[in-house]
Amino acid sequence: MVMSYPEIAKAPGRVPPNLADYEALRRGWSWDAVRAELELPGGLVNQANECIDRHARRAPDRLAMIWEGSDGRVERLTFEELRRLTNRFANVLRELGIARGDRVFFFADRIPELYVGVFGALKAGAIAAPLFSAFGPEPVAERVRRADGVLMVTTPRLLAKIEAIRADLPSLQHVMVIDRERGATGAHLDYMRLMDGAADEAAIEPTGAEDWSLMHFTSGTTGLPKGAAHVHGAVVGHYATGKYVLDLHPDDVYWCTADPGWVTGTSYGMFAPWSNGVTQLIYEGGFGAGKWFELIERHRVSVWYTAPTAIRMLMKAGARIPQQHDLSSLRYTMSVGEPLNPEGVVWGQEAFGLPFHDNWWQTETGAIMIANYPSVPIRPGSMGKPLPGIEAAIIDDEFRAIDEPMREGQLALRPGWPSMFRTYWKDEERYASRFKGGWYLTGDRAKRDADGYYWFVGRDDDVINTAGHLVGPFEVESVLIEHPAVAEAGVIGKPDAVAMEIVKAFVSLKDGFAPTEELRRELVGHARQRLGPGVAPREIDFLPTLPKTRSGKIMRRLLKARELGLPEGDTSTLED
Ligand code: PRX
Repeated sequence: MVMSYPEIAKAPGRVPPNLADYEALRRGWSWDAVRAELELPGGLVNQANECIDRHARRAPDRLAMIWEGSDGRVERLTFEELRRLTNRFANVLRELGIARGDRVFFFADRIPELYVGVFGALKAGAIAAPLFSAFGPEPVAERVRRADGVLMVTTPRLLAKIEAIRADLPSLQHVMVIDRERGATGAHLDYMRLMDGAADEAAIEPTGAEDWSLMHFTSGTTGLPKGAAHVHGAVVGHYATGKYVLDLHPDDVYWCTADPGWVTGTSYGMFAPWSNGVTQLIYEGGFGAGKWFELIERHRVSVWYTAPTAIRMLMKAGARIPQQHDLSSLRYTMSVGEPLNPEGVVWGQEAFGLPFHDNWWQTETGAIMIANYPSVPIRPGSMGKPLPGIEAAIIDDEFRAIDEPMREGQLALRPGWPSMFRTYWKDEERYASRFKGGWYLTGDRAKRDADGYYWFVGRDDDVINTAGHLVGPFEVESVLIEHPAVAEAGVIGKPDAVAMEIVKAFVSLKDGFAPTEELRRELVGHARQRLGPGVAPREIDFLPTLPKTRSGKIMRRLLKARELGLPEGDTSTLED
């Protein structure tokens, strides 16, 4: 039995949770009451003002960021320092002629300049689009093209990938290089030099709640990734979930392990902690069990938001590692992005006395929608209950709510919450297709028990969830069939004990090519080089032909069923 957080919270010295009574808060919920806790000057809202400037005015010396580099270097920025740096960057952008609504891309590791850049862009009224730095050139090009990006901000390590695609990106007017070592940036704009010459003060663009702020790309079953566009008013949702789900308190040191290339790394690695005025740890490097616990100990992290794959990797590394560290600063721990197995919830409790609180949301929802809360007992394996202010339902194929407990259906949400995406960039039709019968359709299958807890069942499409990152099979197939040997490609998610799923490809070859081990390695290399290691298939199998429908569509479901030895289901549309 998992100890409920309410009991843990009663321990001496523990701060009482912000959400003391779930049902009462739900009954009395008002988004306007949340808005009243923010500044929103004259009804305007700019995320940078709510996250940075308003704290800089009240508590200029409060720490906003504790940054630790991969090499162990530590840097700290106060809210006032962040205010000035983001002003400078806004001035740099205006000087370049970047105007309101222009798409500014960021392709960088988690360095302080990435955070300065995103908020500086928001101050200038631009739309910030951060990309995962492990992407290969192809996913980067595809996303910049889709959104007609005008500026790419990157680092010397990643520059070659941009140079390789620049000629194919007519919209891209500038490439700016952040060189922390202050080397030469060649023909490109030099971030350090431009920032040196920029003024500390800047007017924040007078954006309203419905003005664009951020774009994240997300994958579907068909077609290339879509740009889910978000608005400045989303900060109301980030602030509310930071307060009630992350349970942020003024003295917390908060750490979110996600990268801003994915929505968790912006909503919860930028907006939620800073709109709550809380200090956050940012670690440039990747996973390392010993390293992560060392970071929690060294920086006295109190609230920690991570992901199931990471938790499973920590579990694999063993309970001895956390025992070697003083983790007494930790107060509250959460997980998101994939189903969190009950073992993962319980492991946290055993390893350092705190169960992981699972929560659920999507790029499109912009903020946490379903969660386990500090004052509500956890049912291990459940995603928890809807955020107060959010109406969720399990719906049937006719978009009618199913009341019966534990009956599976599609998870749906009543539209209208502040952080909801407002479009798929240049794809209104697809955006509209996500709303039916008065619901926003999540595309996830789930159940709800008699007490209102939601249980994740699976996705309703072919999108692959690998280590919490969504990968669209089409994007991978497109790159595979560019190889001269490949006739057709079908890509599936293959279950994996740690990463939930890995990307697996099946290919058939053109005449004259033999399915050799050497060719397999060459294809893996081709895909890794073009797509990057997080997206490329980890396994490739050769098949004489791929199963297709009579209309010529590759049947990924059948490939998956055969791979897993499961029943093939309805094959009536299979070509002869
Ligand atoms: O399938 C669900 C899964 O991740 C999807 C959203 O991924 P993305 O748009 O990249 O957003 C990331 C922000 C969380 C969902 O449709 N997912 C997310 N959280 C959970 C989850 N599956 C099970 N349990 C969760 N807690």
